[in-house]
Amino acid sequence: MNKQTVAVIGLGKIGLTLAAVYATNNYNVIGCDVNKDVVQAVNAGKSHIDNEPGLPELVKKAHDTQTLRATTNTSEAVSKSSIVVVIVPVLIDSSNDVSYTYIDSATEAIGKGLKKGTTVIYETTLPTGDTRERFGRKLEELSQLKMGSDFYLAYSPERVYSNTIIRDLKLYPKIVGGVNEDSLIYASAFYRAALQCEVLPVESTETAEFAKVAECVYRDVNIALANELAVYADACGVNLKEAANASNTQPFSHIHAAGIGVGGHCIPIYPYFFISRGLQNGIIQESRKTNDNMASYALSRIEKQQGSLKDSQVLILGLSYRENVKETEKSTTWLLIDQLESKGANVSVNDPHYDAQEFLSYGVKNNDLSPEAVKDVDVIILQANHQEYKKVNFNMFQKDALFFDGRNAFHRDDIISAGLRYDAIGGAKS
Ligand SMILES: NC(=O)c1ccc[n+]([C@@H]2O[C@H](COP(=O)([O-])OP(=O)(O)OC[C@H]3O[C@@H](n4cnc5c(N)ncnc54)[C@H](O)[C@@H]3O)[C@@H](O)[C@H]2O)c1
Repeated sequence: MNKQTVAVIGLGKIGLTLAAVYATNNYNVIGCDVNKDVVQAVNAGKSHIDNEPGLPELVKKAHDTQTLRATTNTSEAVSKSSIVVVIVPVLIDSSNDVSYTYIDSATEAIGKGLKKGTTVIYETTLPTGDTRERFGRKLEELSQLKMGSDFYLAYSPERVYSNTIIRDLKLYPKIVGGVNEDSLIYASAFYRAALQCEVLPVESTETAEFAKVAECVYRDVNIALANELAVYADACGVNLKEAANASNTQPFSHIHAAGIGVGGHCIPIYPYFFISRGLQNGIIQESRKTNDNMASYALSRIEKQQGSLKDSQVLILGLSYRENVKETEKSTTWLLIDQLESKGANVSVNDPHYDAQEFLSYGVKNNDLSPEAVKDVDVIILQANHQEYKKVNFNMFQKDALFFDGRNAFHRDDIISAGLRYDAIGGAKS
């Protein structure tokens, strides 16, 4: 039987993984990207993403079996494909408005190559209604084909987690919504075969779009609740972690972990897909503010112990937005650096995932965590709890330096026995 051809539009962390997984599950894949270096790497059998476990091996395998190739010519790739999967980002701008620059241009290229009978599936996280009203209408206009009958159109959100993408693609049910019944049937059949996963059909593209954003909002709001509880627990002299662990033995209580901030390109961004489209007032908007305020709350706690931070040497552990990933989007470290510098502190940052050159390109002072580099540090802030930090010898810091545990990740007694002082978000000693 002839293999079907799939065009994957956008070969980033997610798109490249999808392309490689489809290509090793009996599909011919043409990956499309505007970045020539990415295309060149894929055509040489190399993954330009080197921090996603299993991906380089999978790209090589797909290349060796000649089932994956890449191009910058999206229209031509689409014209040769029976399935098109779109996974280029939709972002927010500095005013938190939705920015469609990349995906509009991808849609334009798809529309020009679209032929009868093709199934187009958007996977990028979207505001509700966009698959049908923004992209479907544009594809109809450009191709002169009718959605739902001449071509099929579906939405299926990408729900994977960095570091476990390949596993998650098989593990999580694939939510799929179509603009009509036929679109749903074709898209669902594709995912069952290409990902070998469970498919969860929903009534419409709008339901599927809504489900993904709701998932992110749920986490953001629950983290905000934990953060609000942490601030109050601190005021009460209660250790939130211990209290929440106790609360959560009741099956209806799921108090999340409090922390110094919420980063990444999902949770702090997608709530604005609801907020900017009608949910301006309420818990979702408030949660965004609560979570973004945690950095300044952390600094206020540090100042309480330390006094003025002017001329203090402050070391932040973690440039990445969270532990064990290499991603700086909306990292709380950016908020911390801005606020610390405005207080006159000297800030350095350590992150084992970035080399000196990368630190230079971000304009951030790198601290290599050597005894020489940390000898004058007054305050250490744990922002991203990378696994490498488990091995740090805290004895090398000056006695009485303050360790502020922004992730409630360390044991107070371990830090104190190294001669440092310890504080944490929601970490009052009960
Ligand atoms: N990264 C994650 O952890 C994650 C998790 C869940 C969902 N998602 C969803 O996946 C989307 C993509 O994420 P990512 O991490 O792969 O992004 P990314 O930034 O790593 O990659 C995006 C790729 O798209 C390419 N691109 C931009 N415009 C294009 C165009 N017009 N035509 C073709 N290619 C184009 C870029 O060159 C880049 O290679 C996100 O926007 C989000 O909706 C991501």
